Amino acid sequence: MGQDQLKKEVGWSALKYVKPGSLVGVGTGSTAAHFIDALATIKHQIIGTVSSSESSTKKLKSYGIPVLDCNSVDSLDIYVDGADEINHHLQMIKGGGAALTREKVVSALAKQFICIVDESKVVDILGKFPLPIEVIPMARSYVARELFKLGGKPIYRQGVVTDNGNVILDIHDLVINEPMALENRINSIPGVVTVGLFANRRANIALVGTSTGVKEMK
Ligand code: A5P
Repeated sequence: MGQDQLKKEVGWSALKYVKPGSLVGVGTGSTAAHFIDALATIKHQIIGTVSSSESSTKKLKSYGIPVLDCNSVDSLDIYVDGADEINHHLQMIKGGGAALTREKVVSALAKQFICIVDESKVVDILGKFPLPIEVIPMARSYVARELFKLGGKPIYRQGVVTDNGNVILDIHDLVINEPMALENRINSIPGVVTVGLFANRRANIALVGTSTGVKEMK
């Protein structure tokens, strides 16, 4: 089975976690896009959504699914999103699609985070996928030098501007043995908006698409 088919199966499988009357946080990326397709089939049963990117907002609206302003919401029942890597503690690297900051905000509002991935994303140790960092443009060189001291190789993602008007540095060649400590360390560098490590707020459940069906990790 191809990777996109696995993403589709896992995206649709998240639907059963969405209860009638829910406020739903919606992630970004190709797996989350399948979840939006599925969510459209129960759009009259939910109160609405909060979206993590302009692209997901556009897709949600194209289905007529209500998208609420994040500032008008105290909490969300559930947040459903993909990841670039996930370990067995359900800590993740996210931000391959540059939506990491809004993803972190929307997931922070949620009582439950359901991560939807195909099996290629499950790893023992995070870091093979370059770790995305959203940075304000004027701090790019300073932050890159600080990140270099952590032992990885920061590379400017050319031509990408986030929905918040910022830029992305991807740290290559990191072995992330202590995800929570690294998340806190990078967050403390002036000029960093968000690091794409979701370790302090990890997923509650991971749904993993495999060739033998969707498996649940808790
Ligand atoms: C978006 O910024 C990311 O965090 C995505 O969740 C991640 O890149 C997974 O994307 P795919 O579902 O397209 O693999």
